[in-house]
Amino acid sequence: MNPLAEELNAILDGTVAGRLLSTLGRRFYFPRGIIAQSAEAKQSAHAANATIGMAYREGKPLILSSIADSMPTLTAEEAVAYAPTAGVEKLRRVWKDLIVQKNPSIDPDTISLPVVTPGLTGGISYTADMFLDEGETILASEPCWDNYGLIFSTRRNANMRGVPYFGKNHGSGLDMAAIEKAAGEAAAQGPLVMILNFPNNPSGYSPTCKEAGAFVSIVEKIAQKGKDVLIICDDAYFGHFYEEEIYRESLFSRFARLHENVLAIKIDGPIKEEYVWGLRMGFITFGGRGLEPEHYEALTKKTMGAIRSSISCANTPAQHFVLKALEDPRSAAEKEGFQELLRRRYHAVKKFVNENPAPPSLRALPFNSGYFMSFHCQGISAENLRRELLANHGIGIVALGEDYVRVAFSSLDEEKIPAVYRTIYDTAAGLGTAPALAAH
Ligand SMILES: Cc1ncc(COP(=O)(O)O)c(C=O)c1O
Repeated sequence: MNPLAEELNAILDGTVAGRLLSTLGRRFYFPRGIIAQSAEAKQSAHAANATIGMAYREGKPLILSSIADSMPTLTAEEAVAYAPTAGVEKLRRVWKDLIVQKNPSIDPDTISLPVVTPGLTGGISYTADMFLDEGETILASEPCWDNYGLIFSTRRNANMRGVPYFGKNHGSGLDMAAIEKAAGEAAAQGPLVMILNFPNNPSGYSPTCKEAGAFVSIVEKIAQKGKDVLIICDDAYFGHFYEEEIYRESLFSRFARLHENVLAIKIDGPIKEEYVWGLRMGFITFGGRGLEPEHYEALTKKTMGAIRSSISCANTPAQHFVLKALEDPRSAAEKEGFQELLRRRYHAVKKFVNENPAPPSLRALPFNSGYFMSFHCQGISAENLRRELLANHGIGIVALGEDYVRVAFSSLDEEKIPAVYRTIYDTAAGLGTAPALAAH
């Protein structure tokens, strides 16, 4: 049990609430992770707040005009009526068309109609409810988004295994040999279940075309041996690509047609793609070679059961706002503008990292996409570095455990980037040094 859960249980033990907690209730806790650290940074990060997984400009979130304008214009039906359990039908069709547009190798007849979920988090959690049993293993990147632990380990009581994606030396890309080894070991024990999150949170890395091909062949070999495979593609940051060599489609498009033993699930949504984080909307889409419309219908109904039994249905106005934004002719150009803003920040960070030698205690993980980049802390505590930056410099970053810090350039104005990174380097250097390439 997580020590934070134990702390909460100890407080409640001896009360009626403590006696009544279920075993799941006893496992719940609130991590001292991204959300808690962001709240702290909100108070104290007066110089720069790079904790936020949103795109900010001059202290305010970016917002598309269509979203801002349509807030007061919704009809009663769009504003307060219950939405269908699987989501507004038109929105589901529009989103499916967009998936196919962004991933041209997908044949629309071979995937399901997306189901609306309350944020991508809802989609990931329902997927875990449906496909992950207690004690079953799921592979995720190491490091990974901190909520995976809460969803897979705490809620589902599954065994989440982190795969060191970037190897000991943090080369320029993925350590495909380590990924293949972990996948083979997991497949020897039961079905292979993997969550792939690209662009990755927290590293900001997306696979090259060659790495995408390697992923596919690892899974194909396992499926050909008769093993069942579930690939969950968490595409939260899809489309935020800054380098030419990146594989431009979701890996879902490859896995959805790969082999009869492979089920691919795409979790995506407008949250990061359309800049509407607080609207809490995501989608689940299924794809698997050999699956027919009746199978997709059954999977959709099961997902609806998961939704109905938890939140009943997703938020109605959010679905109509997103539909309006997707159909508004102004959105494409505005999104390109926002994308350019993020791209410029990415290049400013790359320039700093390439031109300035990092202290031996910090090693940047490869990054080429998304909202973030991360450093592996070697011989210093990530949490100490975070605290020092916040307390003494008013700079907010996120510590992921003791080994990694994440910097959200999505929320850092471009002109602040060199000074923020200089302060991170100097502060890390002041905390001490470690032998280069300490064990990962
Ligand atoms: C990797 C990853 N997956 C999923 C999510 C969840 O997104 P949502 O806010 O739509 O629940 C996030 C949010 O930060 C994320 O970083």
